[in-house]
Amino acid sequence: MSECLTLAERSRVIAPSATLAMAAEARRLKAQGLDILDFSVGEPDFPTPENIQEAAIRAMRAGQTHYTPPAGIPELREAIARHYTEQERLPTRPEQVVVSNGAKQAIHNALMAVCGPGDEVLIPAPFWVSYADLVKLTGADPIILPTSETDGFKLRPGRFLEAVTPRTKLLMLNSPCNPTGAVYSRDELIALADAVLTTRVGILSDEIYEQLCYGEARPTCLAALRPELADRTITISGVSKTYAMTGWRIGWSVAPLAVAKFMADLQSQETSNACSVSQYAALEALTGPQDSVQAMRQAFARRRQLVLERVRRLPGVSCLPPDGAFYAFLNVSEHIGRVLAGRPVTHSTDFCLAALAGAQVALVMGAAFGTEGYARLSFATSEETLERGFDALERFLSS
Ligand SMILES: Cc1ncc(COP(=O)(O)O)c(C=O)c1O
Repeated sequence: MSECLTLAERSRVIAPSATLAMAAEARRLKAQGLDILDFSVGEPDFPTPENIQEAAIRAMRAGQTHYTPPAGIPELREAIARHYTEQERLPTRPEQVVVSNGAKQAIHNALMAVCGPGDEVLIPAPFWVSYADLVKLTGADPIILPTSETDGFKLRPGRFLEAVTPRTKLLMLNSPCNPTGAVYSRDELIALADAVLTTRVGILSDEIYEQLCYGEARPTCLAALRPELADRTITISGVSKTYAMTGWRIGWSVAPLAVAKFMADLQSQETSNACSVSQYAALEALTGPQDSVQAMRQAFARRRQLVLERVRRLPGVSCLPPDGAFYAFLNVSEHIGRVLAGRPVTHSTDFCLAALAGAQVALVMGAAFGTEGYARLSFATSEETLERGFDALERFLSS
């Protein structure tokens, strides 16, 4: 490498996204002609609903193809603020909303706004792959708090309080959770929030899967639970998962005014606004008919049922029924220590590589989410593909 362009210190703290790496390996094998059953993807397989696509086309034709204000078009910020005020009972002003290039940028903005060297950020594990790296980018230290399957993969107030130090700046919560599908009940969140309110710790609440809950589970907007929470909480969400709009790159944050202002300023220097056309599409998503959301949720619910039935038949594999999102977090710990597809399985990555080689099924290793002994299966794919994948896994694990 050139001596001039040696990489900055921060290059050491960033690892490529493990879910994307697994998807890339699956793509590579597919390109070789193998029929890979891909359960590694974290996005709905449905097309973006027609009315949303039409709104984007109308916006383009109307010339909405230029820069917008960095924090988003006023109509969209207002629609988001209205959603929180009216549906979540969280009084929100449009100026508290920053529209970003996906929820991922919203999380990055939020962490850059409030965290820096010397700070600690508490992250319950299993956690979404990007959290720890995004925290490290700010110079702060991610502090991982393992949770257990027996506790529903949820952080309890006592565990939170034990972990707080004078350096703790933020707690990151994600309900419904990627990768476990865990959804905190309202009472569980109130108990946790009340513990947080006894400290000086802020909360980043990633609610991107809020519309995808099954059975009795209900999403909860954490910031609305107690009046004092709004001042210390940054809420993250977006259209990617609810409206099958991952490629449009629209997410948002709702934050106290001063934090929102800094996040908008930061974004104005880094990327400017999120795509203008996508913002008009997101406006239609939020304000137009919602029947497609309901239809997609029902399809996910059917697939979830299928997954639960098929997991029961897999030798040495179990999983907690996911209450939300579209993932099953498979406990594969019985297979650790075995030899599968000719390779010794010493951790979850070996298991996933063996499943890819031996059953041509792509999963994501639990290690990517900070938890060994598990593999994440995404059911954002057709029932037919799921059936074929489970047939292949069943044959493979029985052999
Ligand atoms: C928990 C969680 N938060 C945030 C995101 C990022 O969403 P977006 O695609 O809108 O950036 C994802 C995407 O997988 C996610 O699973």
